[in-house]
Amino acid sequence: MHVKFVQPDGAAAALAMESGASVMITAVRNGIRGIDGECGGCLDCATCHVYVEESQYGNIPAPTADELELLGTITGLRRPNSRLSCQIKAPLAIDTLVVHIPESQA
Ligand code: FES
Repeated sequence: MHVKFVQPDGAAAALAMESGASVMITAVRNGIRGIDGECGGCLDCATCHVYVEESQYGNIPAPTADELELLGTITGLRRPNSRLSCQIKAPLAIDTLVVHIPESQA
């Protein structure tokens, strides 16, 4: 499967996701700007915030209570489709997941 990263200015990049890899790891390994992943994916930083394409939000596993709690701490704009990208892992039942990167991270 693939993940397509869309920057705030509309620039986009689609990358293959290895099985078991998270959206955050895929971004960091490939130098996608705007996703920092400072804690390495242990739900401790919220610098991996993304907006999942609204039409796809219901097709990925729901966030855990811990993820929702951390999402409550972000300083950027939180939306109903906000997720922490370290918690979205391949494989998913979607061929290409689209995530929008926020203007800034927490
Ligand atoms: S990388 Fe830190 S919470 Fe996602």
